[in-house]
Amino acid sequence: MTSVVEETTLRRPAETATLLDVQQLVVEYGFGARATRAVDGVDLSIHEGEIVGLAGESGCGKTTVASAVVQILRPPGRIAGGSILFRGENLVGKSAEELRRFRWRNVSIVFQSAMNALNPVMRVGDQFVDAIRAHERIDKGRALRRAAELLELVGIDPRRARAYPHELSGGMRQRVIIAIALALNPELIVMDEPTTALDVVVQREILQQVEALRRDFGFAVLFITHDLSLLLEFADRIAIMYAGELVETAPAERLGTNPRHPYTQRLLQSFPPLSGPLERLSGIPGSPPDLRDPPSGCRFHPRCPHCGPERPELYGRQTTERPVLREVEPGHRVACHLVEEEEEVA
Ligand SMILES: Nc1ncnc2c1ncn2[C@@H]1O[C@H](COP(=O)(O)OP(=O)(O)OP(=O)(O)O)[C@@H](O)[C@H]1O
Ligand code: SF4
Ligand SMILES: [Mg+2]
Repeated sequence: MTSVVEETTLRRPAETATLLDVQQLVVEYGFGARATRAVDGVDLSIHEGEIVGLAGESGCGKTTVASAVVQILRPPGRIAGGSILFRGENLVGKSAEELRRFRWRNVSIVFQSAMNALNPVMRVGDQFVDAIRAHERIDKGRALRRAAELLELVGIDPRRARAYPHELSGGMRQRVIIAIALALNPELIVMDEPTTALDVVVQREILQQVEALRRDFGFAVLFITHDLSLLLEFADRIAIMYAGELVETAPAERLGTNPRHPYTQRLLQSFPPLSGPLERLSGIPGSPPDLRDPPSGCRFHPRCPHCGPERPELYGRQTTERPVLREVEPGHRVACHLVEEEEEVA
């Protein structure tokens, strides 16, 4: 087992070059008064070789961010503002052909539904060959050899290249999907809830594998999940999303030990600890807002335990003024009026 010290040194420093830089991203579904603003002013950067986790309750906009980053939003979804810089180049406004080339060369996507996306009547090896040859001119024999190597990398006997998807377990199919995602040596892999359909042990195994592969290949990962405890274990940095906005971003260790936003604190309390005694878990009272008509001011205020008229000045800001992300420590940013006040006093 790796010691804590080794684990810390293995984690990627954020000083490497910025790969992806999402700035003030706004994504809407539909138009006019009936539009849902699913993502509202999100800033998110990912450095080379970094694993960044994105977490938040269902419907907060995680998949919408992922779809915008890899430019696969479908109508009625559209980018209504902001930019998505990949190595400094803005993807927003690029032509369909430019995007097609960009997508597989630089970014691979593993969606949860991809579990079922393997072609059921095609041998696994041939699915690699198709994926590779759609982008590279190499003969079938070489593509099959690469498929065998990739299968081995994700812990599958290369002879299984001859298998059909139904002959593999759920966990193996998911590894195949990850191996296909690696086939073109992308710089960024976006994984949107890639393992939630699987049991916890398999989830952890797959993430361990992704982390090991990342060390060998150097790709970065945007990992989206409900399971914050998994991110605490595997991510370098974590971004917490609530109702279309980022409310806190921090290095994983720091977020786990010193979460500052009341929503992050609640979210952490709703997961069992990785070690130590099992405490009673408290859920988050209430439900996320309807994004067609989000609350004024801080979107979390109707559910926040620190929001009440006892402190009229703060209450006024919480209910009318939108908090913005501010740095409380290097690399740790929080969007909360209360935290801002605490920082001013400190
Ligand atoms: N095709 C669509 N048309 C209209 N609204 C949509 C569409 N897709 C998503 N939305 C809305 O956008 C918001 C964000 O959805 P999104 O799927 O990005 O959330 P999520 O955080 O990925 O949720 P989950 O954890 O359930 O996957 C939701 O309020 C949802 O209703
Ligand atoms: S700004 Fe106020 S209402 Fe919003 S999360 Fe912070 S303390 Fe709670
Ligand atoms: Mg989703």
